[in-house]
Amino acid sequence: MRLTRREFAKSTVAAGIAAALPAGLFSACSVSSNAARTAASGVPSSSPARQFDTSSEALFPKNFFWGTATAAYQIEGAWKADGKGESIWDRFAHTPGKIKNADTGDVACDSYHRWREDIALMRAMNLNSYRFSISWPRIQPAGSGPANSKGVDYYSRLVDALLEARIRPFVTLYHWDLPQTLEDAGGWPNRDTASRFADYVELVARALGDRVSDWMLFNEPAAFTYRGYLQGELAPGRASLFDFLRATHTVNLAQGAGFRALKATCPAARAGTAFSMSSCEPATNSEEDKLAAERAHAITNLWFLDPALNGRYPEAFTFLPETAMKIKSGDLDKMRAPLDFIGINLYYRTIASAPTAMERLSHVQQWLFPVKMVGGQQGPKTDIGWEVWPQALYDMVMRISRDFNHPQIEITESGCAYNDGPDANGVIRDTRRIEYHRQYLRALARAIADGADVRGYHAWTLLDNFEWAEGFSQRFGLAYVDFKTQQRTMKESGRWYAKVVAGNTLPPVVA
Ligand code: FCB
Repeated sequence: MRLTRREFAKSTVAAGIAAALPAGLFSACSVSSNAARTAASGVPSSSPARQFDTSSEALFPKNFFWGTATAAYQIEGAWKADGKGESIWDRFAHTPGKIKNADTGDVACDSYHRWREDIALMRAMNLNSYRFSISWPRIQPAGSGPANSKGVDYYSRLVDALLEARIRPFVTLYHWDLPQTLEDAGGWPNRDTASRFADYVELVARALGDRVSDWMLFNEPAAFTYRGYLQGELAPGRASLFDFLRATHTVNLAQGAGFRALKATCPAARAGTAFSMSSCEPATNSEEDKLAAERAHAITNLWFLDPALNGRYPEAFTFLPETAMKIKSGDLDKMRAPLDFIGINLYYRTIASAPTAMERLSHVQQWLFPVKMVGGQQGPKTDIGWEVWPQALYDMVMRISRDFNHPQIEITESGCAYNDGPDANGVIRDTRRIEYHRQYLRALARAIADGADVRGYHAWTLLDNFEWAEGFSQRFGLAYVDFKTQQRTMKESGRWYAKVVAGNTLPPVVA
């Protein structure tokens, strides 16, 4: 179902008084009781019947986290400053032919030096949460050994400044920038990488865990293993079914090991992962397509979630290729990680259908995974070609709520690429972005009203940045970046988002 502008207008209410931002907050390592944790995060730890802000008839719960999300390689630049080691993204982007227009993240948005401006933007948007990632090779330049103090200092200053601005530091430990040394030793297909990851998590938790309470172990494990090891369009650019299968298993082991390392260092820390999710719909009502859609759901949405929460792999393949994945006895227990929340990154839906018998026989991959997946085609497309389909967010949140016993959920990413630039007056009128977020937020509010325990929404992204293989050609930001001068300018969508946050509701649509 898609809602029209008019329906949205009807269903929204006038902006209420500014929502109080959670105050005095976010300690972790020193906090151990549940009650203390509740106070620390400003969020009730469990409340099936969510409290709505009736005074302003808000669509979102009190103390909702409103944020933006970024990732180190996409914004920081300073790729070899202060002892930082080379990452697989440095290597990949420096390899001719890998990135559109030969762009690199060497400078990106220069947030390594301009983070104060970034925080000022967030303040101007009234945000109370910032999802950012730590660059592993800034902390461990060669992927092991003691922490590089200059790298730690950078994140420490950032965290302090966020807390001072009353913005929750919401930290992703791995957003795709593996130290190149570890890739040289086999990368994610090498199961030793799981132990290296746990060591790294412990170092970061020791350095920041006194001030950071909410963590994501991974960003989009399905995306970086699939697109980095099977499809080859992301770093490290390999294209091997075996590498992909092994990488997924190591990441699942790393999720378990990283979870335990974090909790051992900071028992009160809240740990999740930001999963790339997409509601998977059958192309037709046939039993074959319905089965294909369930397999698509299993590989897209559950491959890293079922191991963590249930200690098993979901039924995606015609059989579990245990030998190819190098699963050892005891591994299923090691993958367990009782996550405190489930992070959902959602942009679009997926349509699944079953391949023909001939297609299955023609390719080993289709035989193991008899599913064809494409993006939906009915809705409008963003500039990167992704379908706008707000119902996908509702469907995904409701399905995860139902199938995982009503977990805490954070929307860790959603957003759209529209390349609108400044007009003659320097104003960036990105009305399609406003419409995107309005519609996705409306769908999210419905899911909350229908019982989903959603704690926050993080727009991708704070500012236009390096969009992986697309380089700088796709602008997702609520703020515009002039990459020649590094000047940041709030877009109209940023101003609109500030109103949403201030009112904790969707402002009425002005005709
Ligand atoms: C997600 C990534 C994020 C960004 C958006 C557009 O898959 O997690 O880094 O590139 O897509």
